[in-house]
Amino acid sequence: MELLLRRRRQALPAVAVLLLCLAAATAPTVQGFDILQILGKHDEFSQFCKLLNETHLAGDINRDRTITVLAVANGDMGQLTGGHYSLGTIRHILELHVVADYYDEKKLKQLSHAATAASTLFQRSGFAPGMAGYVNITQHRGGKVTFIVDDAADSVKPVTFVKQIESHRYDYSVLQVSSVLSSPEAEAPVAPPAPINLTEVLSKKYCKSFAGLLAADAKAFDIINGTKDTALTLFCPVDAAVAAFMPKFKNLTAKAKTAILLYHAAPDYYSMQFLKSNKGKLTTLASTSVSKKDYTYEASSEADTVTLDTTVGTSDIQATVRDDDPLAVYAVTKFLQPKELFKAKATDLAPAPAPEGPKKKKTKKKGSSADAAASPSDDESADGPAADSSSDDAADKAGAAPAVITRWVAVAATMAATALALAA
Ligand SMILES: *[C@@H]1O[C@H](CO)[C@@H](O)[C@H](O)[C@H]1NC(C)=O
Ligand SMILES: *[C@@H]1O[C@H](CO)[C@@H](O)[C@H](O)[C@H]1NC(C)=O
Ligand SMILES: *[C@@H]1O[C@H](CO)[C@@H](O)[C@H](O)[C@H]1NC(C)=O
Ligand SMILES: *[C@@H]1O[C@H](CO)[C@@H](O)[C@H](O)[C@H]1NC(C)=O
Ligand SMILES: *[C@@H]1O[C@H](CO)[C@@H](O)[C@H](O)[C@H]1NC(C)=O
Repeated sequence: MELLLRRRRQALPAVAVLLLCLAAATAPTVQGFDILQILGKHDEFSQFCKLLNETHLAGDINRDRTITVLAVANGDMGQLTGGHYSLGTIRHILELHVVADYYDEKKLKQLSHAATAASTLFQRSGFAPGMAGYVNITQHRGGKVTFIVDDAADSVKPVTFVKQIESHRYDYSVLQVSSVLSSPEAEAPVAPPAPINLTEVLSKKYCKSFAGLLAADAKAFDIINGTKDTALTLFCPVDAAVAAFMPKFKNLTAKAKTAILLYHAAPDYYSMQFLKSNKGKLTTLASTSVSKKDYTYEASSEADTVTLDTTVGTSDIQATVRDDDPLAVYAVTKFLQPKELFKAKATDLAPAPAPEGPKKKKTKKKGSSADAAASPSDDESADGPAADSSSDDAADKAGAAPAVITRWVAVAATMAATALALAA
């Protein structure tokens, strides 16, 4: 299955927010569990869904097993919406709504009348003193089930179980509750995370040379550095790979150098677990920022090794330098050579023996991309004159940005329509 890994935009029209949640509902998922997909099917949870995503808690929930999410409908969100809290605080409050155990409706109704204390992701965050990260679940006479933070003050009212939204036995369960759980500890202000120094992250191990190349290219550095706080996956070639590629790199025009550096960065966060369990095309910052050309490659994995195939060559992930939503940095064994700048492997040009199903598309693409690489009019050509055409640059930039957004929204709209059609 071709997985067109979603591209996140930095500046998104507000109208697209609902579409985004719906788009997430149809996006391919890892191993069947995607909280945004489940909640995306229900319009009334769009705010909760949006906050789970913005706080990057959705990724943590999806990576977990044996989990119960207590979702709150848009009308019951109270102070959680409206700019009352910082994103860090919102994350803590939402963490209280993720119980690290499995409770479906049946299990809730079978609870004894005494309170059961269940730990939440807030407990795991390390910010919850004492019992502040535990939620009491109580089944009352008459069948009513309530939730309240274990150390809540007497004045705090418990929230009530409304209905089961979805459950997968002993794995995950998504329940609706009547309102937001209240806790002074979770609602406390959180200091914003210290800014990440990209050069430092890269230089620590494996990728010092690549850090040097980036630091020397202000345009590439600024684009990558500006994307890392939203969502970024960077594949940095190890020092030996950079050394081996230097003769070819030096030969490139300034514009092609910027493009090839950006080619190593994807504007989305991909965990190692995600890369190991998915196969698909990766859009890069070279595709979105500096060029109208494709600049993508295929990611796949076999026997726990993740391989990137540009059609010019392949490169394997050697080590994880950092994997912390929204930023992932992986050291790769070879410099990634785009088909837009280098000739595709010779074997791909020869008529290939009839490939199995999923490869068909790829073969076709390889053919056309080889043509592109051979084209002498290619403005980023490796063998072309070193003179950099800045007017070309400007044209590319002016044309690319709106086109990309328009296309993205169109895609989201199509997906939303599909989601609605499926729901109907
Ligand atoms: C999730 O949040 C990011 C910003 O962190 C945004 O760019 C993206 O479009 C959002 N996706 C969904 C499905 O809401
Ligand atoms: C939660 O349950 C514990 C005992 O299991 C109890 O001591 C505590 O008071 C309960 N908290 C609330 C707010 O009801
Ligand atoms: C990032 O780290 C590098 C290397 O340690 C240092 O030279 C640079 O000044 C730092 N940049 C910022 C913005 O702190
Ligand atoms: C990179 O981005 C961070 C914000 O995350 C910023 O503080 C820093 O100044 C940027 N570094 C450079 C060299 O622009
Ligand atoms: C650099 O480009 C020249 C032609 O402009 C070519 O002859 C040479 O082989 C190239 N060197 C490398 C290392 O690709």
